Amino acid sequence: SGHGKRQADPKELVGSELSLITDNLARLLESGHPMLNTVSRYYFSASGKHIRPLLVMLIAQAASIATRRSGRTSMLVDSDVDRIDYSLIDRTLSQNLSSDSESQHVNQMIATATRDSNGGRPYAPSVKQGLTILPTHRRLAEITEMIHTSSLLHDDVIDRAETRRGLPAIHRRFGNKMAIFAGDFLLARASMALARLRDPEVIEIMSGVLCDLVDGEFKQMQNLEDEDAPMARPDEGAFEYYLQKTYLKTGSLIAKSCRSSAILSNSTDDVVEAAYVYGRNIGIAFQLIDDLLDFTVSSASLGKPVGADLELGLATAPVLYAWQEYPELGPLVARKFSEDGDVQMAWKLVHASSGLERTRALARQYAKRACEALAIFPPSPATEALESVTLSVLTRTK
Ligand code: FPP
Ligand code: MG
Ligand code: MG
Repeated sequence: SGHGKRQADPKELVGSELSLITDNLARLLESGHPMLNTVSRYYFSASGKHIRPLLVMLIAQAASIATRRSGRTSMLVDSDVDRIDYSLIDRTLSQNLSSDSESQHVNQMIATATRDSNGGRPYAPSVKQGLTILPTHRRLAEITEMIHTSSLLHDDVIDRAETRRGLPAIHRRFGNKMAIFAGDFLLARASMALARLRDPEVIEIMSGVLCDLVDGEFKQMQNLEDEDAPMARPDEGAFEYYLQKTYLKTGSLIAKSCRSSAILSNSTDDVVEAAYVYGRNIGIAFQLIDDLLDFTVSSASLGKPVGADLELGLATAPVLYAWQEYPELGPLVARKFSEDGDVQMAWKLVHASSGLERTRALARQYAKRACEALAIFPPSPATEALESVTLSVLTRTK
C-alpha cells in the first residue's frame, strides 16, 4: 500500500494448509451412506471463503512466536457477551458521518496498530513456514468449518433460501429432511473431532459456540410488535441488542476458534485473551458488512439472494440507522415488512439515508479494535496477514 509497508499475503502463508482442509473434510464426512455423503459434502463442493480456518491458522502462527505459557491459570468461559464494547455504538450514534479523510485516518490506524506498539522495531525472525501449525490446529480449523457449514444447512431451511455459494440451496436440491440430517451429521462429526483433541478447555469453549448460535437465532426471532421489545425504537438499546445477536450468531464462532487456536499453541493467558478479542471484533465487523452487502451487491456476486433480510423481516444495522432519519420506518419494522410494498419502501429509505455508510463506519471501528488486539503478538508475517484479512473483511463484496 501507500505507506511502504509490506503486505503479507495470507494465502501465501497458509494457502497450502487451506487446500488440505477441503480434502480432509471430505474424509471426515465419510458415512457409509452414499446419499448422506453427497448431501453433507454439497456446500463444500463450492469454494467458500474459508475465513474461519484461515484465522485459526494465522493465529496459530502468530501465537507460536509469542511467549510460551508457563502455566495457564484460568478456565474461563461464559461472560464473553457482556464484554462486547458497546462504547463503539455511542460514537457512531452521535458522530457525524465520517468524512473521507476521517476514514482514511482510521484505515491508517488499523494498518499501523501493530507496528506502533512495537516501537517501529524490525520484525521478529519469522518462523519457518508451516512449522508452527500443529495437527491439532488443522483439526480445529476443520471443526470450525464443519460447525459453520452445519449452521448454514439449518439456516437455509429456516430462511427458505434459494441459493448459497452460487449453488441451489441444499433443500432445493435434496429436500428439507436431507438438509437437516446433513447439518446434524456435520455437527456430530465435528463433536467427535473436538473430543479427539483431548483438550477439555477447547472442548468447553467450542461447545459453548453451539449454544451461542442457537441463542443468536432466537434473539433474531424476537417479536418486534411488542412495545417493550428491545428493538421497538432505534435507540442505543436496539443497537446493543442487535450487536449482541451479531456476536452470538457470527462473532462467537470466530472469536472462540481464535481463542482455541491460541490455547492449542500453548499461549499465555493474555495472548489467549487477545486472540479472542481479535476474533470477536473481526467477527462482528464481518457480520456488519454481511448486513450491508444485503443492500448493496448483486445476488450473482454474493452467490445468495440479496434483500434477504428485509424479506425475512429483519431490521439490521442499515435499517436501524435509516430509522433514526426516517421515523416512518417504525411501523414497517414492527410488522416485519410484511405488507405489500414494505420491503421496497424500506429498501428505498435505507438507500436514501446514511444507514449504509454508518454501518460501514461501525464495521471499521470493530476492525480497528481487532487490529489493536494484535499488538500483544510480536510483529510477524502472520500478524501482518491478520491485519490484511481484517482490512479485506471491510472491502469484501461477497
Ligand atoms: C447465517 O445467518 C446463519 C448463522 C450465522 C447461524 C445459524 C444458526 C442456527 C440455524 C442455529 C443452529 C446451529 C447449529 C450449529 C446447527 P444469515 O441467515 O443472516 O446469513 P445468510 O445470508 O448467509 O443466510
Ligand atoms: Mg438466518
Ligand atoms: Mg440465511
